[in-house]
Amino acid sequence: MSITVCEEARTITLHTKNSSYQMKADEYGTLLHNWYGGKTGEEDLSYLFYRTNRGFSGNPHEAGKTDRSYSLDTLPQEISTFGAGDYRITALRIRNGAGDRALRLRYEGYEITPGKYSLPGLPASYSEEEKAETLTVTLKDPESGIRCELLYGVFEEEDVITRAIRIINDSDEEKHLLKAGSLNLDFLDGSFDVIDFYGKWAAERRVERQKLGHGIRSFGSVRGTSSHHYNPSLILCGRNTTEEQGFCYGMAFVYSGEYQLEIEKEQSDQVRVVLGIHPDDFDWVLKPGEDFHTPEVLLSWSGTGIGNLSGNFHRFIRKHIVRGPWRDARRPVLINNWEGTYFDFTGEKLLGIAEEASKLGIELFVLDDGWFGKRDDDNSGLGDWFPNEKKLGCSLRELGKNINTLGLKFGLWFEPETVSEDSDLYRAHPEWAVAVPGRAPDLSRNELLLDMANPEVQEYLIDRMSDVIGNAPVSYVKWDYNRNLCDKYSHALPKERQGEMAHRFTLGTYRVLETILSRFPYLLIEGCSGGGGRFDCGMLYYTPQIWCSDNTDAIDRLLIQYGTSFIYPVNTMGAHVSAVPNHQVGRVTPLETRAVPAMSGTFGYELDPARLTEAEKAEIRRETALFKELYPVLQYGRYFRLKSPYSETCTVWEQAAEDGRTAVLSAVYHTVRANSAPVYVKLKGLIPEARYTLKLIPGTDGRMPSDERTAALFRGEKEFTGETLMTAGLYVPMYLKDYQSWQILIQCVS
Ligand code: DGJ
Repeated sequence: MSITVCEEARTITLHTKNSSYQMKADEYGTLLHNWYGGKTGEEDLSYLFYRTNRGFSGNPHEAGKTDRSYSLDTLPQEISTFGAGDYRITALRIRNGAGDRALRLRYEGYEITPGKYSLPGLPASYSEEEKAETLTVTLKDPESGIRCELLYGVFEEEDVITRAIRIINDSDEEKHLLKAGSLNLDFLDGSFDVIDFYGKWAAERRVERQKLGHGIRSFGSVRGTSSHHYNPSLILCGRNTTEEQGFCYGMAFVYSGEYQLEIEKEQSDQVRVVLGIHPDDFDWVLKPGEDFHTPEVLLSWSGTGIGNLSGNFHRFIRKHIVRGPWRDARRPVLINNWEGTYFDFTGEKLLGIAEEASKLGIELFVLDDGWFGKRDDDNSGLGDWFPNEKKLGCSLRELGKNINTLGLKFGLWFEPETVSEDSDLYRAHPEWAVAVPGRAPDLSRNELLLDMANPEVQEYLIDRMSDVIGNAPVSYVKWDYNRNLCDKYSHALPKERQGEMAHRFTLGTYRVLETILSRFPYLLIEGCSGGGGRFDCGMLYYTPQIWCSDNTDAIDRLLIQYGTSFIYPVNTMGAHVSAVPNHQVGRVTPLETRAVPAMSGTFGYELDPARLTEAEKAEIRRETALFKELYPVLQYGRYFRLKSPYSETCTVWEQAAEDGRTAVLSAVYHTVRANSAPVYVKLKGLIPEARYTLKLIPGTDGRMPSDERTAALFRGEKEFTGETLMTAGLYVPMYLKDYQSWQILIQCVS
């Protein structure tokens, strides 16, 4: 049983393989948060609370006369509410009919059900084999008539606990939800470091680790999307926690819209984290009898370092967030024409690319922006999802079929949520574009947004996209989104509901995605938002992979994919080999090296093969064959960060098959220095008593380590035990050339 209840102490404990989580309904009906961390017994862990009168932390009326140590301002709670004596950041804030914002929830009861709850209209993790369990705890505020169901999903094997809330208005008056956090998570002892993933366009998910001080830190997005700027995920860890040791907590939001993640370290060094929809522009009307579901948060704990925490998230996202046939099927190696042609193509040119690609082991041709409406640059045409047959020289169906005849599948780019002012759609329906009446809207990339909160817009997109996808052999869609939301106003909503617009926008996007997938279940959708501007578990529920960044430079990609890997698995990260000099940074890197980070992603190409030399084509043939051969270990293996791209010379990572019998070590010298110190790494995930050989995977450039002693280590002639490789490790070969890379195959021989 992963959920146990002690009726006498009124505690409920959730157990996963390595963690425990406990709550307790106390004598005043407050649902206390007793514990989240390493595995414990069934004892009532509220003995850990040091209760004292802290002064200026008031007491609920029923406790105040006799017990000044009882304060909602100091007790760790499962759900914190604004306006009832808790002065810290809180998860829920409502406005009652009288205009006050008081809310105090008291425990009513619980229910345990097999399987995992789902959330209407929202992405959420799922458990196919009904292995997960759901705990529903009901709380009520008798004064306001607000009832809450706290939802907990317990995935015992995966070491993951999920949380969400259903808020119900049982009163006979209208309420306004002003803040609907999905959780607060309270900690008694807040000696933490915070690891966050900040960034910007072309430089997503930088890793930042800081000591948590007193006060409030807040991350989030009011951009209508989860954003390039702060990923909706976070790690809290001990001050000495490393990749290999120490405790850490991770959380990831299953949501793609505006969100806020706050952390407060308060007067007594306790810490509270609140994560949910961003409250700044949120005001949701809850009429009598109506309910509201918050999005879901994934939580995981590791007592053995950040590497294992990432492993928990990787396994979980791969199996319980990503859905559909592409979850487990090998995904095709693709070529995308964007950096090869931009808008400058004809049907003939595209077929030329596909023909060359088919000889290189590439399996899918993706036609990017510019195939529809009037779209020869990024100033017009968005919204007019009708193929431009003049530009293509034939129908989209014919083009797709011709590509199929070459042995490639056919994929297509859309940017569904946007519209150009210069488009037939905008001319016909200006009211479908997001704008505040009487104000000229903000332009971004000369685009406007469509009002995804409007069901008519959703229907238009469903019809148009279904028509295009259904009438051509489209097996893949790249779903792009190239601007952020502002000028929030929806013609489909009355004025008192305009505060719902941003969330309804996200729900509208989800509805279109869900409907398209239900009509075309075999469609593989790759998410994208000017690269990785919407890289979150919400999108991954619909799109098994997401274009990681518009920055395709192999060296910059080391940083971007490293940051992404703290939460997200390799097979969700869209990564391509592109031409040099690189279009974003001008850097020239060897072709072999460009393939190394790309193979630790979904792997594809984004260049014009007509410009390749015969030697480069041979190298690409080698790469696609290698990727297919090593697919299971590269895409589903355990992923270990061994040397960070923030280190001095070399970034190193390893993927090891779950059974430990095969592993691939990848290393890229991001900076070559004369006479530099060797880079040592210790391998992971091998079988200690098994014997392994190390084989350098040769590139077509014939490079080998420059000294014979090193070369001899990597010819697969010597044998090492897993124990030796994991304890003593090895050094990464050197070779004096800028941006040199190595892939080393570690194979079990006995
Ligand atoms: C931004 C994407 O990230 C690029 O890959 C490309 O699809 C362009 N949009 C097309 O406009």
